[in-house]
This record gives sequence, structure tokens and C-alpha cells, in this order.
Amino acid sequence: MKRIDTRVSAIRPVARDYYELRFAWPAELGVPAPGSFLTVRTGGRYDPILRRPFAFSAHCPEREEAAIIFQKRGRGTESMAELRPGDSLDLLGPLGTGFTLPPAGARPVLIGGGIGLGPMLYLAGWLAAERARGARFEAPVLALGFRSAEYLPDIGLPEGTALCTDDGSAGFHGTVAAWLESFDPVAPPALYACGPAPLMAAVDRYAAARRAPYQAATEQWMACGVGACAGCAVRLKDGSYKRACADGPVFDGSLLDWEA
Ligand code: FES
Repeated sequence: MKRIDTRVSAIRPVARDYYELRFAWPAELGVPAPGSFLTVRTGGRYDPILRRPFAFSAHCPEREEAAIIFQKRGRGTESMAELRPGDSLDLLGPLGTGFTLPPAGARPVLIGGGIGLGPMLYLAGWLAAERARGARFEAPVLALGFRSAEYLPDIGLPEGTALCTDDGSAGFHGTVAAWLESFDPVAPPALYACGPAPLMAAVDRYAAARRAPYQAATEQWMACGVGACAGCAVRLKDGSYKRACADGPVFDGSLLDWEA
């Protein structure tokens, strides 16, 4: 983990209230693991006082650039939406655990709901690159769920991405969990997901029914982001707790209590 003073290279809206923020990420900072995150100091030095956590959505070593996708939904992210290319950016990261490769022969099925789009996009690119380098698993499939067509991201998506809308205004009519139930992975699936708790619980049931591995990136409110305050506790099915920021945010999804 490092505190990083960097610069915004690009910012643009990609859907209603959603923005992609790209920033300089010099080579010496290394390659952030898919699933890991950073925190952004938003606004002034003390207002808002807390940093905001965001998962990496892209990393481009050729351009020495990384990216996040954020949703404008409060003072901190409203000030982030005002950033312009060249503005300074105060980051802390990379933080937390990342995703791991699926078993040989498995079909990675990546499920994203809402802002879970960012980490799933980065993961899809990483898995495709690992496969091109000779990793022996089937081509990853990405499925993304949104409330309606106005939330569909105007951003480069892998070919074959399944887009789902709750109201049927675009793509598959229904939740991405419903899409998952209708999908035939052909090979044994390996599940990856990031999204709201009801979606994560549905993926847990799907994975359990098929004895499939399930890696889950938790979306949790965070204060310190570095393991010091326990403000990001997630409950496990055995009744114990883990810190999303320091023990996660990626966990074995079968261990988490999604109903908590
Ligand atoms: Fe403080 Fe995780 S946010 S311990």
C-alpha cells in the first residue's frame, strides 16, 4: 500500500450517474490485482473527511494508466465528478486481496450488478490475458445487470457480454441472477461476482447447487480502508466477522452470510 499523488488523465460519464475516471499509474507502482481497490481523498482536506473506496476497473501498462468506475451518489462522489484532466488526485492503494485463477477446465462466469461492473470488467480482461498466456480454463463469460437501459455502460465490453435489465428495456429481461439460472456454461462453472447482497446470495445458491467455486468481491461501507477501525465488518456463516478492507474484499463467497 502506498499513498500516491497522481493526476487525472480522463473522466467521462459512461451511464446515468456513472463515471469512468482514468489516472496516471506509473510503472513502478506495479500491476494492481483484479478485485483490489484504492481509496480516493475527495473534495478538500477535511470535507468530506473520509476517503472513498473504489475497485480498479482497468490497468493499461502501455499508457501507465489505471481506472475506476464510480457512481455519483453523495458529496464525495459529486466532487469527484467535477474533476478534470490534469487535476491532482490523492490515492491510497492498491489495497486488499484480489481474485485468483479458476481451476483447469472450468468456465469462469463473471456476474456484476450495478457498480460491480468495474471490478468484473478488470477481472474479465485479466482472465482473457491469462488464458492467452496458456492458462487452461475455458473462455470467461461476463454478465452484467442494471435497473434499466439508461444505466447500461457506454464502455468497451468483452464480446458476448450478457446485458440484463430489470425492466426489460434492453438485453435480457430480468435480473442477472435470473440470467445465470438460464445460462448453460457447458463446462463446470467457476463463479465470480460483485454486486448487491441479494445478487450475491443468489450466486451463492447457484454455486452451492453445482458445487462450484465462488469468489465474491464485497461492496462494503469503509472508513479507514486499511484494517484499523472494523467499520467494514462482514459476517460469515459461522457467526464470525472479517474486515472487508484488510481480509477481503475478495472472499470465498460460500463462507459469507449474505442474509446478514
Ligand atoms: Fe476500517 Fe475496514 S474500513 S477496518
